[in-house]
Amino acid sequence: MSYLNIENLEKTYGKEKVIKGFSLQLEQGELAVIIGASGCGKTTLMRILVGLEYADSGKLLLNGKDISDLKPGQREIGMIFQKYSLFPNMTVRENIAYGLRVKKCPKKEIFEKTDEMLEMIHLTEKADAYPSTLSGGQQQRVAFARAMIVRPQILLLDEPFSALDTELKKELREELKRIQRETGLTAIFVTHDREEAMVLANRLFIMHDGKIEQCGKPWDVYNNPKTLYVASFIGACNIIPTEQFKEAAGISPKAEYAVIRNEKILLKEKGYSNPKAVLIPVTVSDAVFCGKTVKYTLSSASGMILKAEMPSQEDVHFQKGDNVTAEIKKENVIGLNH
Ligand SMILES: Nc1ncnc2c1ncn2[C@@H]1O[C@H](COP(=O)(O)OP(=O)(O)OP(=O)(O)O)[C@@H](O)[C@H]1O
Ligand SMILES: [Mg+2]
Repeated sequence: MSYLNIENLEKTYGKEKVIKGFSLQLEQGELAVIIGASGCGKTTLMRILVGLEYADSGKLLLNGKDISDLKPGQREIGMIFQKYSLFPNMTVRENIAYGLRVKKCPKKEIFEKTDEMLEMIHLTEKADAYPSTLSGGQQQRVAFARAMIVRPQILLLDEPFSALDTELKKELREELKRIQRETGLTAIFVTHDREEAMVLANRLFIMHDGKIEQCGKPWDVYNNPKTLYVASFIGACNIIPTEQFKEAAGISPKAEYAVIRNEKILLKEKGYSNPKAVLIPVTVSDAVFCGKTVKYTLSSASGMILKAEMPSQEDVHFQKGDNVTAEIKKENVIGLNH
């Protein structure tokens, strides 16, 4: 049996069924990322796991023990929310120490453990500051330390970095990864940011409409999506009905749709040849420079529209109106049914 077993959870609010037979297994020390669109039930699920909400049916087993009916304080599951939730009238040190004070730990132990946490989040010099004087990123680090000090069996993080700017997000992501590795923390991280999900996940779970639609290693889910929803949610792609994909005759997969990631469509000069690949003469109808990459919109003679994204290089840069060749390697065409 896995460390955490979530079995067939169901939750309805009024007439709306929000969680629909949700199941997930997690091993100890794993960092699982749940990615899903807004409103698919992520926060509701986290609230059920931590005990702020109860499921209508289904089971939660942690370390072999049924915790479905336990109160939040009895579950040893910590949670960090999207919005900063520090106590404004307590200093950083008091915020972090809170969980141990509630547990009535000896003063000396509280002080030492709080020091350790302050060091871990690199905020020792801010111990006596109040939350309102900290930056958003610093506040989330304090929230993290406050949740970690009681050594939860699982830590839940519900979009903890979504209010932060890109650079800070990346920094905190790395910090979380480091601490997770060092402490062997088991955690579930919820996000709707693709890059964040890919970077963090040991295992990635794609949630759609109240349940898991696919799970696996990030690269595997990215390269082998099992549904059209997962394919397009996890990264930009072209979805072409196979009967319209005449250019790929002979190699197009035996499925209703051919799915090709934008970056797997390579632009070559007009007249380029490669007998092993699908080559489609196209006209560039749009080219947008995005810094690291250029995003192209292409149209073929048969009216097919393709989206491509290529690294921006000085020597290859096509422009609107150019006639070029789109090259697609056979192994990069994924066949999927509706
Ligand atoms: N207490 C509640 N009462 C009624 N409906 C609710 C309640 N909480 C959530 N919902 C509904 O459940 C659905 C899922 O909400 P939830 O907050 O779990 O989504 P989410 O995946 O976390 O979205 P986001 O990415 O925007 O945070 C929404 O349609 C929401 O309106
Ligand atoms: Mg949410």
